[in-house]
Amino acid sequence: MSDSPFRPTRPRRLRETPALRRLVSETRLDPADLVLPVFVREGAGGPLPISSMPGVVQHSLDSLKGAIAEAAEAGVGGVMLFGVPEVRDAIGSGATDPDGILNVATRVAVEAAGGALVVQTDLCLDEFTDHGHCGVLDALGRVDNDATLERYRDMALAQAAAGSELLGLSGMMDGQVAAVREALDDAGFLNTAILAYSAKYASAYYGPFRDAVESQLQGDRRTYQLDPGNRREGLREAIIDIEEGADVVMVKPAGSYLDVLADVSAASEVPVWAYQVSGEYSMIEAAAAHGWIDRKRAVIESVRSIKRAGADAVLTYWATELAKWIRAGE
Ligand code: PBG
Repeated sequence: MSDSPFRPTRPRRLRETPALRRLVSETRLDPADLVLPVFVREGAGGPLPISSMPGVVQHSLDSLKGAIAEAAEAGVGGVMLFGVPEVRDAIGSGATDPDGILNVATRVAVEAAGGALVVQTDLCLDEFTDHGHCGVLDALGRVDNDATLERYRDMALAQAAAGSELLGLSGMMDGQVAAVREALDDAGFLNTAILAYSAKYASAYYGPFRDAVESQLQGDRRTYQLDPGNRREGLREAIIDIEEGADVVMVKPAGSYLDVLADVSAASEVPVWAYQVSGEYSMIEAAAAHGWIDRKRAVIESVRSIKRAGADAVLTYWATELAKWIRAGE
């Protein structure tokens, strides 16, 4: 090599030691950028395991407090609450009832959090309807967009009144951000923020979640969630939501949609989050349980990749555990 006129460029130089690699790392994980999704089951006497999501439970109101305290202690940035009601009906009445499980859980969570992390709520009807769709149905059984917006407006007011700081609009109805913003403003909830699940794809990776919330859905959500093949449309949905007043936009699922996430991140004027969904969680847990994959490394790599693609924050079922690892220097 010494008499050769050619001197190779040597990127490996910066990979020589752990300290150098750490110093030049482009993507760092921070507990404050993690949000923990939490399920709360009406009538539960204690935490109930979810068979398709090993390590995740449906909380009782009491065990919810412990989960929030543990997440806050680990430095997690927020929690996203999902309610699992005991009774469902066609219009999802439990969603707008101040004594419905999600609204009750929100009040419990706000008190348990004590301002140490941000309490957020899923704003969607699917957990509360007896047909499992994210909206109400018309006479022909189709999801009625504009009638659903009226339900979302009422749901937003119930959640804001319960103390939710950030409403996660996950129903994929057209005009939902504008409708909810107007309802909140008219009622004086000027500082209740909106997280729009803007680019939410009709994904097979939601399978375990539907067990977690005991979903009643027959069929699919393809008339409102995005076609997994559509990249440009994901960006379009995010732009529409920002114009309607979204404070944060989201791409979901995360791992299989990193191109969409990178597009939205490059174009957005508001924070961009990503949701590492139930199927992404369960795939890694299942492979790790078989000894086919190193669990901790796979978890860290999966979340770091989502951040690398442009997410400012990540919703992940590993939030608390991952936050503890980060604090311990991984
Ligand atoms: C709708 C909602 C869903 C998820 C979050 N909010 C389910 C769906 O659209 O079917 C999925 C989250 C996950 O899979 O972890 N309320």
